[in-house]
Amino acid sequence: MQLRPAAAVATALLGLSALLTGPAHAHATPHSHAPVVIGHRGSPVSAPENTLASVDAAARLGITWVENDVQRTKDGALVVIHDTTLSRTTDAERRYPNRSPWRVSDFTLAEIERLDAGSWFDRRFAGQRVPTLGRYLDRVERNRQNLLLEVKAPELYPGIERRITSELRDRGWLDRRHVAHRLALQSFNAASLRTLHRLRPDLMLGFLGAPKAAELRSYAAYADQINPNHKAVTPEYLRAVHALRGPHGRPLRLSAWTVDDTGAARSLARMGVDAIITNKPAEIRRALGCGASGAAAPPVRVPAAA
Ligand code: G3P
Ligand code: CA
Repeated sequence: MQLRPAAAVATALLGLSALLTGPAHAHATPHSHAPVVIGHRGSPVSAPENTLASVDAAARLGITWVENDVQRTKDGALVVIHDTTLSRTTDAERRYPNRSPWRVSDFTLAEIERLDAGSWFDRRFAGQRVPTLGRYLDRVERNRQNLLLEVKAPELYPGIERRITSELRDRGWLDRRHVAHRLALQSFNAASLRTLHRLRPDLMLGFLGAPKAAELRSYAAYADQINPNHKAVTPEYLRAVHALRGPHGRPLRLSAWTVDDTGAARSLARMGVDAIITNKPAEIRRALGCGASGAAAPPVRVPAAA
């Protein structure tokens, strides 16, 4: 089954440039542009989070940006999963009863690939796997989507930054087009972001958190985005973020998470946030009446078999 590449690419690029570079006048008139809507872990209300099914579900809804979380296995493979243990989103406890506390870092890729990462969500998704980052990148690419990649708990995985940049490069995600328009990385760990910036100064990076306004300047040395919990966002804070320029010479952007309430989303949009990260991307997009900034795109036809 074919995608509709021309339309999908055009809308994806529109959404991307709105998120990363922003329309030229977005800084001056932030309220005039709907924020980009980013599917948190894909579309986790439709399919099990951080699986290929979840990113496909987001694509079918026309969601051009997805967020995910990457960690490292015992044997050095990169896998897409949120929790640092396997318990909540796989059948690891049943399959490996003697391996408590079921840390991602205690299992090899072969062991993790045997796990069912879908049944906990719904029996319809039985057989979904914890994807490798490589397979996930290929799927996001196939769907003509864009990626906000969270480096999850990098303090547990020394050196993961170099491993991630290698994987991104090998999968074609570090060419000029991807780096400029289709990819951003974020983390709660500022040291990890500084390492990524040293390795690849061209990467768009986002700090997860809400540093004090007076401290924002130091983050702007390596971060293009400040991405706080939405409850921390005020008009004053947003102005302080937008007033600074990041390492690529453009005003800092702000993506607020995790916004599942339509009223909160509308209020953030009125404030002028650049993006909203949500578990309910279709609902939030509808509530915002998105389209102007490329936050919405025509649904992508995704093959049924995941
Ligand atoms: O994208 C923001 C959000 O993903 C950060 O928190 O715990 O859901 O990864 P968490
Ligand atoms: Ca995340």
